[in-house]
Amino acid sequence: MHSLFETATASTTAIPITFATRTTWAAIADGLPAPARRFATANGFTAKPGRCLTLPGPDGQLAHVVFGLDDESDRARDPFRPGALPGLLPSGLYRFANAPHDARLATLAFALGAYRFGRYRKNEMPAVRLAPPDGVDIADVVRMAAAASLARDLINTPSNDMGPEQLAQAAQALAARFGASFTCIVGDELVKQNFPLIHAVGMASTRAPRLIDISWGDPSHPRVTLVGKGVCFDTGGLDLKPSGGMLIMKKDMGGAANVLALAQMVMDAKLKIRLRVLIPAVENAVAGNAFRPLDVFKSRKGPTVEIGNTDAEGRLVLADALALADEEKPDLLIDLGTLTGAARVALGPDLPPFYTHDETLAASVAAHAKTENDPLWRLPLWPAYDSWLDSKTADINNAPSGSFAGSITCALFLQRFVTEAKSWLHVDIYGWTPSAKPARPEGGECQAARAIYKLLSERYG
Ligand code: BES
Ligand code: MN
Ligand code: ZN
Repeated sequence: MHSLFETATASTTAIPITFATRTTWAAIADGLPAPARRFATANGFTAKPGRCLTLPGPDGQLAHVVFGLDDESDRARDPFRPGALPGLLPSGLYRFANAPHDARLATLAFALGAYRFGRYRKNEMPAVRLAPPDGVDIADVVRMAAAASLARDLINTPSNDMGPEQLAQAAQALAARFGASFTCIVGDELVKQNFPLIHAVGMASTRAPRLIDISWGDPSHPRVTLVGKGVCFDTGGLDLKPSGGMLIMKKDMGGAANVLALAQMVMDAKLKIRLRVLIPAVENAVAGNAFRPLDVFKSRKGPTVEIGNTDAEGRLVLADALALADEEKPDLLIDLGTLTGAARVALGPDLPPFYTHDETLAASVAAHAKTENDPLWRLPLWPAYDSWLDSKTADINNAPSGSFAGSITCALFLQRFVTEAKSWLHVDIYGWTPSAKPARPEGGECQAARAIYKLLSERYG
C-alpha cells in the first residue's frame, strides 16, 4: 500500500495523466504535440467519462495518459472515477498533470482502486505508482486506504479462514499494534458474564462465540464506543436462508471489519478520544442445539426477547454488546452492521441508511459522507412502528411479522438497548460491492468508516 505513492523527488520522471471532460477535451487536445493529438483522434478519443488512452512519445514509449471525467455539472458525477486508473494503466510511475475535480478524492480513489484481494492467488495487478499531487495530505489518504484494505481483506476472507476466533485474532493484532488493551469473553463464559443473546446466536457453531473488547487512549478524553456486528457466517439459523441469499454471507462480519478499520484510522491519527471497540463475534449455524423460533431469552439489559426469526441474529448479538457499551454512558456510541436486506431494498448496496436522534450528529454525518464520497442517508427512528416489535410472550420480538420498513424496525429494536449513551448512531451497512465500480473492486467494502473517521477528526482531532 505505502509503495503506491512515490516521493516528490521522482515526480519529474513520472508519466503525466491529463484529465479531460467532453467540454474541455478540444482545448486540451490543442495543447498536445501534433502526433499525440493525431493518435488520440485516430483512436476516437473524445474524453468520454472513464475512457483512458495512453499516448506514445516520438520514441514510441508511453509518454502521456488522457483520462475522461464527467463534466462538472453532471448530476451523476463520480469523484472516484480516477480509481479506475490503476486497473487500466501499465506498470510505471504517474502524476496528475492537471487537477481532477477534487484532487484529494481522486488520489484516494487511485489508492482504493489499486486494491485486489490477494490471499489465495497471485495478485496480477500491474505495479502502478503515483507521485502525490501538491496540496494533498498524503498521510491521511494512505491512512484511509490502508483502513479500507483492512476492512476489505477481513470481509473477503472466506468464513473457513475467518471464524469468530480469527476475527478476534485480527482485532488483537490491531490492538497490539497501537498499544490498546484487548480482552475476549469466549463460549460458556458469555453466559456467566451475562451475554445471553450473543451466546444463544453463536452456540450451535463448533466455533465458539465471543465478545471482543478493545480499549485505547486517555481515559480522561471523551468516550467514543464502536460496536460492530461480527457474524462470521450467517446461514439464517433454523429459519435457514435460501441458497442465493446465503451465498455472500461471509460478509456478515462487515460491521466488525468496518469498526476495526475505523479504529485503525482513529488510533493511527491519535485522535483525542478514549476509544472502545466491542465486537460480538459468532457464527449463526444450524445444529441440534441451535436456538429456535419462539425461544425466549432474557437479554443482558433485562428485557426478554422472543425469537420471531433466527435469521434476525445481528440485532440480537448487537443488543447485548450495545447494552454493555451503554453501561459506561459513552459520549458517543456508534454501531455498524450488515443487519437487513431491507436496507438494500430501500437504498441499494452503495448507500447505507443511518439512524440517530442527535440532529447535530446527523447533519455532520451527512456532510462528511458527502465530502468523503462515503455515501450515507438518514432514515427515521419512526416511533409509530415501535409497536411492531411487540411480542405476545416476551417484552420484545426480534423480527416483526410483516416485511415493511425492515431496516427501521431493526433500528428500533436496537434502540431499546441504548438508554444511557449521550448520543447514538446506528448504520445498517451492506459492506459489499456487487459489481466493480471505479475505486470499488467487487467484493468486501469499507462503508461508513471514512465518513465517521472524518467526523471524529473534526471533533477530536
Ligand atoms: N445478515 C442479514 C442481512 C442481510 C441480508 C444483509 C442480505 C445483506 C444482504 C441479517 O442477519 C438478516 O438475515 N436479516 C433478515 C431480518 C429478517 C429475518 C427480519 C433480513 O433482512 O431478511
Ligand atoms: Mn440473518
Ligand atoms: Zn446476519
